[in-house]
Amino acid sequence: MPTRKFTLQIQKDPEATCRAAAEAFAAWAAVRIAAQGRFTAALSGGSTPRRMYQLLADKPLRGQVDWSKVIFFWGDERPVPPDDAQSNYRMAREALLEPLGIADSQVYRMPAELPNRDQAAQQYQNVLSDFFQIAPLGEPPSLDLVLLGLGPDAHTASLFPATPALLETRRWVVSNPVLKLNTERLTMTPMLINRAAQIYFLVTGAEKAKAVAEVLEGSFDTQRIPAQLIRPSQGQLTWFLDEAAASQLKQK
Ligand code: 6PG
Repeated sequence: MPTRKFTLQIQKDPEATCRAAAEAFAAWAAVRIAAQGRFTAALSGGSTPRRMYQLLADKPLRGQVDWSKVIFFWGDERPVPPDDAQSNYRMAREALLEPLGIADSQVYRMPAELPNRDQAAQQYQNVLSDFFQIAPLGEPPSLDLVLLGLGPDAHTASLFPATPALLETRRWVVSNPVLKLNTERLTMTPMLINRAAQIYFLVTGAEKAKAVAEVLEGSFDTQRIPAQLIRPSQGQLTWFLDEAAASQLKQK
């Protein structure tokens, strides 16, 4: 089993956990903007990060980042229009982008509503290739930050157990059929995610405790535990957990 290097940041409750992740986001963004004049971040969807986004858009953190230099991507998206209640983009737009007045030119949402989702995935890969000025079949770009969540089944982004995207070794973004949800979702693949300089997992709640323990301390089985595929090649991996989500970990 490959050795897994990561940092655990455990807080008492979801609010404190979201605050810790938001503070880390803001600090890292300030460092990268000072060093390179921009900060590229892939946002996570679902419900957990909403509070983190709200904290980033509020004092004091909103004043700690030059938001005009932040470029937003998404780690995954559901096959719905951008104004759909299920849209990961819509959640971030409401909680973060609109409150901060982020310009459309800084936002690259996944066009997962397009009927041909393989084309949509290719289109998003081309967006990344153009933005980072990297050949579309070259080594993936290195995002400054990828934010991830974790499902009770140990999926992350839209990398669900026993789905084709887990085995992808060429494309950076794919349309991934998720039979158990009777849907297809666009998702960044592990080869793109793992090139990030920083990867944050934000996970709260007792219902995630078993999955957290399996990912971090269980046997290595990426088909069953997809989040084990997340092992940054050069960057750093940090788990922001509340005590409930960390409750089944043997080593804290
Ligand atoms: C999505 C997310 C997904 C999410 C987990 C956790 O599109 O739903 O990308 O990977 O992070 O399912 O979701 P919650 O935060 O809602 O528990």
